[in-house]
Amino acid sequence: MSETNTTEIGEIAPQNPPLPLQRPRRLRGNRALRRMVRETLLTVDDLIYPMFVMEGTAKKVEIPSMPGCYRYSLDLLLKEVAEVFALGINAVALFPVIPESRKDDTGTESYNPEGLVHSTVRAIKKAVPEIVVITDVALDPFTTHGHDGLLDANGVILNDPTVEVLVKMALSQAEAGADLVAPSDMMDGRVGAIRKALDDRGYIDVGILAYAAKYASAYYGPFRDALDSAPKFGDKKTYQMDPANAREALKEVALDIAEGADIVMVKPALAYLDVICQVRQATGLPVAAYNVSGEYAMIKAAGQLGWIDEKQVILETLTSIKRAGADLILTYFAKEVALMLHK
Ligand code: PBG
Repeated sequence: MSETNTTEIGEIAPQNPPLPLQRPRRLRGNRALRRMVRETLLTVDDLIYPMFVMEGTAKKVEIPSMPGCYRYSLDLLLKEVAEVFALGINAVALFPVIPESRKDDTGTESYNPEGLVHSTVRAIKKAVPEIVVITDVALDPFTTHGHDGLLDANGVILNDPTVEVLVKMALSQAEAGADLVAPSDMMDGRVGAIRKALDDRGYIDVGILAYAAKYASAYYGPFRDALDSAPKFGDKKTYQMDPANAREALKEVALDIAEGADIVMVKPALAYLDVICQVRQATGLPVAAYNVSGEYAMIKAAGQLGWIDEKQVILETLTSIKRAGADLILTYFAKEVALMLHK
């Protein structure tokens, strides 16, 4: 004990830098170890599949700026819904392609109980009753001008009159059998108004997935091609959020929660991972993120050119969204990923 170390080795020990105690590479040595310490698991349960429905029968039309995504007529959409449900996808989010002849200034077609969305919801609920059906509450596919709200004579978007129409729309979707209504319009106060109307009519179990922090993003371009819903004048910056703002996202989220949202969403996802992370920390509610059309298109385009390993990039991208804090991801990759995860 008291002996001093006089071994030769001790005496000649060079003053090497100490070996690192922590060697993170130890836990990366093989596949099994990597899987044991993996922090984020992407599963098919995380995925919500956005789908485009159009009028007619036997129609399946590819969207040019979204290769691999289609507008389906109802008969073919039902087949696709059954197929994705069998792959383990729990929910679909529906977006209708409305012919120009049914559009008007105020989007009255949006609450037509015999409208495309409504008949689609009823048919899905009959064919695949267990799948969660999410309907979009916003006027842009239904208005001739392509905006999400009613306009005054000067083209200014009117908040409160728009909310009245959104309430009608949400109620009509609940009546058709939607499980979750998803206001994506960004009018102030719409979540509270919709919650109250649903409750007053007895739809207490219909939930609200609020597009709480939805940015005025150029990443929506291909979606607007898909629905032919691009605004005919101006932009959406007076209602959708400024991409520069994160604190404001927390304010929007807090408002939507106070008004009765069940799930809050950040949209788009990739340029807003910091916002997803902050929203995750700010609420215990489920957080959704929308991996939007432009994000899909960029990966598809680079994949088609052979510039990236598309499958790996898809998985890495969706994992990053989950890691940032999203519980649920709306993504056009849902079916592809479900197929990959099953392998
Ligand atoms: C409509 C709506 C949009 C998207 C979802 N709902 C477009 C927009 O706000 O202009 C975009 C989805 C996507 O790009 O994938 N309010």
